[in-house]
Amino acid sequence: MRIDLTAKVALVTGGSSGIGFAIAKQLTECGAAVAITGRTRDTIDSAASSIGGGCLPIVADVTQADEMDAAVQRIGETLGGLHIVVANAGVGANAPLGEIDDQKFEKVVGTNLKGVLNTVQSALPMLGHGASIVLMGSTGSFEAPSTMSVYGATKAGMRAFAKTWIKDIKGRGIRINVVSPGAIDTPSLRDALGSDGDSAIDALNERSPIGRIGTPEEVANVVAFFASDSASYINGEELYVDGGLKV
Ligand SMILES: NC(=O)c1ccc[n+]([C@@H]2O[C@H](COP(=O)([O-])OP(=O)(O)OC[C@H]3O[C@@H](n4cnc5c(N)ncnc54)[C@H](OP(=O)(O)O)[C@@H]3O)[C@@H](O)[C@H]2O)c1
Repeated sequence: MRIDLTAKVALVTGGSSGIGFAIAKQLTECGAAVAITGRTRDTIDSAASSIGGGCLPIVADVTQADEMDAAVQRIGETLGGLHIVVANAGVGANAPLGEIDDQKFEKVVGTNLKGVLNTVQSALPMLGHGASIVLMGSTGSFEAPSTMSVYGATKAGMRAFAKTWIKDIKGRGIRINVVSPGAIDTPSLRDALGSDGDSAIDALNERSPIGRIGTPEEVANVVAFFASDSASYINGEELYVDGGLKV
């Protein structure tokens, strides 16, 4: 099966790095016209030029509803519509219970929950029958690793969003699914592991039933499938892309 996204327009939030970058590249290779967003002009511009295929870079912070409204309007004017939304931008901030301060809480909840809500609500008026929305979850919502309670709660929120929203928009023919990766080798994972990076990656490899952590491209392949008409009857689902870790 070849995934064909010709004539589709896609928005990937957080498309300048890691998983979002790989998704934007994959959707472009499948034929979609792709817009990526991020907060930093330089990184978003250079990501768009290495993705190629006319990728449209837009500076927009998902925590700001007006910036997401403007981003969607620009996509409509420049690319002529919107059919695929990948709400990928997300952040973490580790802290054990008792040390979760307002700043960490607001950052993680603001980006991962409100940011996804802003992205989907801004896009919704432009989406028609056959559109696909993919929310980026995480096995962190299931595994409950220590110090990651707020992150895990926001990612569990993706399940609640998807399952509720498909009922809210019943009859519009728009699908919403969640893709939940395990540990994926990206800049944010390396940052989170800090100076112990290599030995921590060895430990993650060891824990994995498949013997290694994942690549951004392995997540992007699944997102491309959910985005495509090949997944036309899959709605409100969550798929773990974790090499079997959850089992
Ligand atoms: N890596 C993993 O192991 C893993 C596992 C499970 C789930 N995930 C999820 O996958 C997604 C991507 O993670 P990643 O590892 O690829 O992260 P990453 O490499 O750090 O990339 C994050 C992207 O999001 C953008 N971003 C961050 N805050 C933003 C905001 N407020 N508004 C707009 N863009 C924003 C960043 O650009 P700017 O900073 O320039 O804005 C960047 O493009 C996240 O939702 C994460 O929770 C990752």
